[in-house]
Order: sequence, then structure tokens, then C-alpha cells
Amino acid sequence: MKRILVTGGAGFIGSNFIKYFLKHITCEILVNLDALTYAGNLENLSEIEEETCYIFKKGDIRDHGLLDQLFLQYQFDTVVNFAAESHVDRSITEPETFLTTNIIGTQALLETTQKHWSKQAGNKYCREYREGVKFLQVSTDEVYGALGKEGLFTETTPLSPNSPYSASKASADLIVKAYYETFGLPVNITRCSNNYGPYQFPEKLIPLMIHNCQVDEPLPVYGDGLQIRDWLHVEDHCSAILTVLEKGGVGEIYNIGGNNEKANIEIVNLILETMGKDKGLIRYVKDRPGHDRRYAIDNTKITTQLGWKPSHSFEQGIAETIAWYLANKNWMQNITSGVYTQYYEKMYQF
Ligand code: NAD
Ligand code: TYD
Repeated sequence: MKRILVTGGAGFIGSNFIKYFLKHITCEILVNLDALTYAGNLENLSEIEEETCYIFKKGDIRDHGLLDQLFLQYQFDTVVNFAAESHVDRSITEPETFLTTNIIGTQALLETTQKHWSKQAGNKYCREYREGVKFLQVSTDEVYGALGKEGLFTETTPLSPNSPYSASKASADLIVKAYYETFGLPVNITRCSNNYGPYQFPEKLIPLMIHNCQVDEPLPVYGDGLQIRDWLHVEDHCSAILTVLEKGGVGEIYNIGGNNEKANIEIVNLILETMGKDKGLIRYVKDRPGHDRRYAIDNTKITTQLGWKPSHSFEQGIAETIAWYLANKNWMQNITSGVYTQYYEKMYQF
């Protein structure tokens, strides 16, 4: 794991992963390929941009020519694909880019990787690859669809996505599987639950609520607020990805989660309480169409087979996260004063 391509590394999880990776692994080259969409923010990486092995490249994972050039130049042995359109609400209003980036983009990346790692470039029937190479697809628990009151998602739960976002991620997973089955490409897929932590774009539940509390704006809770998500600190997601890169069986899928189910309204109330704000800020708004009721992960496979476990308790993690957003008001302000504001106004008309 010394010459790594990270895609989507200017986003929330990708930027946390790059910093985590550089802290734990000695690497020769880490190239961060990111198109810098509205969600990509180089400020997330300011503390490591001077690292000698770190190279940022602005570009699109759908660009075969660019991918080819990067593989030739840097001879990667590891690819971690975070690049994606990631917000369910945006996938309802603008589904097309979800399909092109999340599906076609993943296929472009797989195709280039397969060509450059194959012991016989150009021979699609050659299933032999360079030693020690791995492609990791960062997927999501949302590919499994919604749970009722009981049960957990395991790696064998059938895919049943409900939003254009989750359908595009499920499609990407199937393309990754196809490159493993057909070409023998050494891959892993990870499916993580909802992440929280520093540097998350304030369109997602937790940073949006923290920001609105800060500026005394209403807190928009969809439907009855009783939908359940299984929250994991982003650093625990990063440690799980590193564990899978190092120890994951070739072709295997690993669910990642910390057994931490919370209803949305519980999270909103906790943020209000921690920030000393009044519950009167809560506004119940129209529900998201096709809103998945409950997600919950069975993490038995990664914990028992690979020995991974989360290190952040939710109570401490959320308190630290709120404190981080309060201590980094400029980071939030730089976002909320830009493109985000126009998007925000379109989404929420109070
Ligand atoms: P994000 O939206 O914060 O970041 C996505 C990054 O990808 C941005 O930097 C963006 O500029 C970049 N990008 C988008 N389209 C691109 C393209 N065509 N080419 C190159 N770069 C492009 O997303 P995130 O929350 O950091 O999620 C990262 C990955 O993790 C996604 O694949 C997502 O599906 C998955 N995931 C997220 C969560 C979560 O809770 N946020 C949970 C499980 C899995
Ligand atoms: P989100 O952070 O968008 O993640 P996902 O939809 O991928 O799980 O939303 C988390 C939950 O919070 C989800 O049930 C939708 C809900 N939600 C609100 O109630 N209000 C909001 O303004 C947002 C952004 C989300």
C-alpha cells in the first residue's frame, strides 16, 4: 500500500481518510483525484497539502484519458474509490449525475485499473495481476434498502435500493463484482452506515442541524422524525477501510457499522440540548419521497474475521463533533456563503 489513488478525497470521508492514511501508513505517493463538485473542498486538506507524497489532481473519474495518464505516471498499487454524488435529496431532484458519476465513473476506474494491473495488458482473458494490488469500492448500507422494526443488514441481504442515490451505488457494487468475477480483479466492497464527524458538508443531517442551531434558523425534520440511522464516527469508517485494504479477503464485501441506532429526532434533540437551544426551533416538514425508515448494520463479519472495532462512543463522538463545528465557524461560513446557499434556499422554503 505505498502508491495509492484516492478518488473523491476532497469530500467529507475521503479527506478524513487521506489524513488518517498518512498518519498510519508510510506511502511513496498518494494522489487525490477529485472533480471538486459543490461537495469537494480543498480546505478539508489544508493540514496535509505540504506532505511530500501527497498530490492533488483536479479531474473526473469518468475521464478515461486522465485515468490512463495517472496510472502510467504513478504506477498505483491501491485504489480507493470515494468519488460519488452522495446526497439522497439531490438524487431526487437531479438523478442523472448520480448515474454517470457513481456507475459510469466507477466502471471507468475499474477498466483503467484492470488494464494497468493485468500481467497482460489488453488481454481481457488474463486473470493474473501484479502482486499486492487492490481496488476498494466505498459503498453504503443504503444499497440494502429499508428495514422494518426488526433485523439487521448482513452482507448477504439482497440489494433493494429505493433512491436514485442508493440505486446508483448498488449498480456500482454490481459492476465491481462483475470485474471480480469476470476478470479476477482483486477488489473489496465496503458498505458503511451513516457517518458523522468533522468536515461534513452541511446538507447532511448532523452538520445542517448544528449550523442552523448556531444561526438560530429552523431545524427541518422530515416527516415524523422517527426514521432510524446507524451512526458511525468517520474516523472509525476510515480505520475500517484501512483494515479491509490490509486484511480483507479478495472479492469480499464487508459491512461497517458501530451498533448505534438513533431516530433522527433524538439526534436533533441532542444537538439542541448540547448547544443550549430551544426545541421551538424544530420544524416538521414534508417527508422525503421514498424515505427509508430504518438502516442497521450487522458488523459481525468485519469484527470477527478482520478484528476491526470502532473506537469512538457516540456520546463522546457527537460531543466532539459539535465542538469541532463550533470551533471551525470559518469553515462553515466559507461553505454557507457560497453555492450551498442557493441550493439550500431551493430545498427549504420556510
Ligand atoms: P461527499 O459528497 O462529501 O464527497 C464526494 C467527493 O467526490 C467530493 O469531493 C466530490 O468533489 C467528488 N466527486 C464527485 N463526483 C466526482 C467525479 N465525477 N469525479 C471525481 N470526483 C468526484 O461524500 P462523502 O460523504 O464523503 O462520501 C464518500 C463516499 O462514501 C461515497 O461514495 C458515499 O457513497 C460513501 N458513503 C458515505 C456515507 C456517509 O454517511 N456520508 C456512508 C457510507 C458510504
Ligand atoms: P442524510 O444526512 O441526508 O443521510 P441519509 O439520507 O443518507 O441517511 O439524512 C439522515 C436522516 O435525516 C434521513 O432520515 C433524512 C433525515 N433528514 C431530516 O430529517 N432533515 C434534513 O434536513 C436532512 C438533511 C435529513
